[in-house]
Amino acid sequence: MDRIRISGGRKLNGSIPISGAKNATLPLMIASLLTDQTLVLENVPRLADVALLQRILGNHGVDVMVGGKRAGETQYDGQTLHISAAHIIDTTAPYELVSRMRASFWVIAPLVARTGEARISMPGGCAIGTRPVDLLIMALERLGAEIEIEGGYVIARARNGLRGGKVVFPKVTVGGTHTAVMAASLAKGTSVIENAAREPEIKDVADCLNKMGAKISGAGTSRIVIEGVARLFGARHRVVSDRIEAGTYAMAVAMAGGDVVLENAQPELLKAGLDVLVQAGAEITPTNAGIRVTRNGSGLAPVEVTTAPFPGFPTDLQAQLMALMTRARGTSRITETIFENRFMHVQELARLGARIQLEGETATIEGVERLKGAPVMATDLRASVSLVIAALAAEGETMVNRVYHLDRGFERLEDKLSACGAAIERING
Ligand code: EPU
Repeated sequence: MDRIRISGGRKLNGSIPISGAKNATLPLMIASLLTDQTLVLENVPRLADVALLQRILGNHGVDVMVGGKRAGETQYDGQTLHISAAHIIDTTAPYELVSRMRASFWVIAPLVARTGEARISMPGGCAIGTRPVDLLIMALERLGAEIEIEGGYVIARARNGLRGGKVVFPKVTVGGTHTAVMAASLAKGTSVIENAAREPEIKDVADCLNKMGAKISGAGTSRIVIEGVARLFGARHRVVSDRIEAGTYAMAVAMAGGDVVLENAQPELLKAGLDVLVQAGAEITPTNAGIRVTRNGSGLAPVEVTTAPFPGFPTDLQAQLMALMTRARGTSRITETIFENRFMHVQELARLGARIQLEGETATIEGVERLKGAPVMATDLRASVSLVIAALAAEGETMVNRVYHLDRGFERLEDKLSACGAAIERING
């Protein structure tokens, strides 16, 4: 398994291109199941999760063609995928595949909407918590699907098609909202989703579905209205930029010091994260190219942050912020409200010398003068990258093991950071 070696203490200077968002790409690829025509997605990041979903969709009969390089393209330009679900040959998603990537459970919505049936393995728990799918099932039932749970599989049936309905989520759920929007797009009649997730990735998928012929309004707000249509068509769509990748590198610059432009980053998608960085002492300037992040000399100020659904501070940046706060001058408090067990980074950060106390869902971080490199590893993508951030400011060498997790969600992380002056390299193994 590959490892990443980092020698801390160098500033970051230059620019980092931000890729297309993983969490928009995955549901967009899944939305291709809604039509027998070709969906073309541009700006798709080269990630292990994208490759895995390609294989999972292949199992349902979907063909994915990766476009070749075009003149003037650099290694950082996203890929173009031509996705065609002309013939769905299998409506079962087996445990072996769904258990490897939870988001693949979402195929349940387009499969039942288009073919009238889907048989999807329950995903099971994962490193960041139990993550149930009860609300996704509730949404499908409200839209007329009959649900049975048997032998670890959720079986959804709608022999005569789905019908419009009202879905009121008792809790904000990104996956639940994607499921409801996709299913309602092909249902007969009008659907209303209340307390919908407002994440930019929801809006990006709805924009793409509208290009495919869907009639969705209100995506990006907590009330989405969908007028069902009889069929959807092919379209071309560019994936929105990855706000979590941008926020992660912004934290890396705040940690290491320096001056970096995050190219293609969209500040309006990351306001809560950027506000916290300013509070901590970084300078943030929106530019034509993206977001400029600088921190020169000054110490970091502690912060108090609670994660929340968009537009609140994202849970997907919680671990990275905690890494940053290990070096603040004073005591920070970070409360995680989205996932009950998203604190695997705490013990690993402690190996680098961080002082963090956990009590229920709140971590209290007492800033320290110095961190010291050590071998570390984590079992979740965002936890792994928080260790990279800490390592940038640690004395000596840190070896991050199980890089597989980083590759699920960060494209060429070591190249992007080393181009800005970090001493970071991948060791193949
Ligand atoms: N929940 C339920 N029942 C459900 C669905 C969700 O109780 O049926 C709970 C979850 O257990 C959690 C909360 O609702 O406590 C919110 O979960 P949500 O459904 O919003 O999460 P998700 O759709 O499974 C997506 C992202 C996550 C991100 C969360 C929250 C993708 C592929 N995944 O997950 O991204 O943390 O939204 O913003 O979009 C990551 O990229 O590292 C990642 C974990």
